Amino acid sequence: MNHIITKMSKTRIGIIGAGFVGLSFAVVLAQKGFQVILIDKDRKKIGKIDEKNLPFFEPKLSTYFLKSSKRIEFSYNFELLKKCEIIFITVGTPIGTNGMIDLSNVKQVGKELGKILLKSDFKPILVLKSTVIPGTSRKILKIIEDVSKKKVGKKFGFVTNPEFLREGKAIDDTENPHVIVIGGQNDAKEKIMQFYKNMYKKKIPVILTNYETAELIKYANNSFLATKISFINQIANICDNIPGANVDDVANAIGIDPRIGGLFLKAGPGYGGSCLPKDLQALISYSEKLGELPSLLKAVQKTNDHQVSKIFNVVKKQLKNLNQKKISILGLSFKEDSDDIRESVSIKLITKLIQQKSNVVVHDPMAIGNTKKIFKNKIQYSDSIPEIINESDCLIIMTPWEEYKRLNNSDFQKMKNKLIIDTRRLLKNKKIQGKYLSIGINLNENNH
Ligand code: UDX
Repeated sequence: MNHIITKMSKTRIGIIGAGFVGLSFAVVLAQKGFQVILIDKDRKKIGKIDEKNLPFFEPKLSTYFLKSSKRIEFSYNFELLKKCEIIFITVGTPIGTNGMIDLSNVKQVGKELGKILLKSDFKPILVLKSTVIPGTSRKILKIIEDVSKKKVGKKFGFVTNPEFLREGKAIDDTENPHVIVIGGQNDAKEKIMQFYKNMYKKKIPVILTNYETAELIKYANNSFLATKISFINQIANICDNIPGANVDDVANAIGIDPRIGGLFLKAGPGYGGSCLPKDLQALISYSEKLGELPSLLKAVQKTNDHQVSKIFNVVKKQLKNLNQKKISILGLSFKEDSDDIRESVSIKLITKLIQQKSNVVVHDPMAIGNTKKIFKNKIQYSDSIPEIINESDCLIIMTPWEEYKRLNNSDFQKMKNKLIIDTRRLLKNKKIQGKYLSIGINLNENNH
């Protein structure tokens, strides 16, 4: 195959899908000197991005965007991709109503790419970055071959290259990936590996494999992370019943064992976000379809779902009747440094509290706008921490934002009832007066 990857500054890169992965990747590539064409079928979204109005909050993104957007062309017109040597596909793969992954976006992109390949002679390498279950890359490739009437290898290249970036760290992770996984067709695989070598200019582990294995690696990775979190949450729940036990000491000690590793052992309200819950569910459904019992994965999911009920039950036990009680929630996003509330445990907890007719007031440095779209006037919103604490019957810390770590006894003076539930143990060393309960130390109050 005759793919010519020209000098970096001249290499034109296409990206389809202006979500977290696509947009972060686009600005990092542009920053490094590449010419980028970013395509999204959502004209409104593309229009806004073009006016420098980014669709989500992500640290460093707007700074990078302002510095490099002159090298990015934003459009909804697929035809522009004809100018590109490499085209990355970064569209979403949500969970459908049946619990299976919804592949309609990637299939649609496959058809569009097939159409432009049919009409022109350019020979791009297509790189599927979207998270897809094993077998999908070959299906998409078949769509492209059928529509374009061209065979992979001769007229275009096609590889699978899963993405591991985290929200809140999207730019850092895109600049410093811990691994590069490339699956698929040999010639294109080598060329994409070379592209990344030129791009990063430093040693990053590379795994070259086939399509199916590359696809599975992403699910195995996220499912293992979810497993670590559910594991430590279960240990935390045990600690809550042992006077004096502390989950952080347990996590620190077991994390020193190199066979375990210290990351992803922070107990809390359970994992949320757009990836871990979705990917675990997709792997469960896929495994069941294969006839393999996903017993461990299901237990991980069940343990995670349990955390929100656990927090809710403690609030109920402490306040007895939740009707009209002022319950203050600190943190709405599923993690700090993000405005994303998808699958956020905080949102699930608020839903349960509203059902009990509690008077819920919420604070978050970034995620209030997104939360308003869900709860509208059913809850109250504030950008002032003192305001939501004032006259409160119970304060619950849900997201580990930096500013919540600075809270002290003096901040809680005006609470009506000093009940503080700290699901992330941010204030555990502060000797908080009143009733201070935290997951993994004394949530069940036995440690007093
Ligand atoms: C995840 C994967 O980490 C990333 O590699 C993949 O590309 C996308 O999915 P992300 O969803 O951005 O990234 O968030 P992550 O940092 O993994 O956190 C997920 C959830 O787990 C958050 O709700 C977080 O609060 C929770 N978490 C994480 C814990 O409760 N404890 C931990 O120790 C780590």
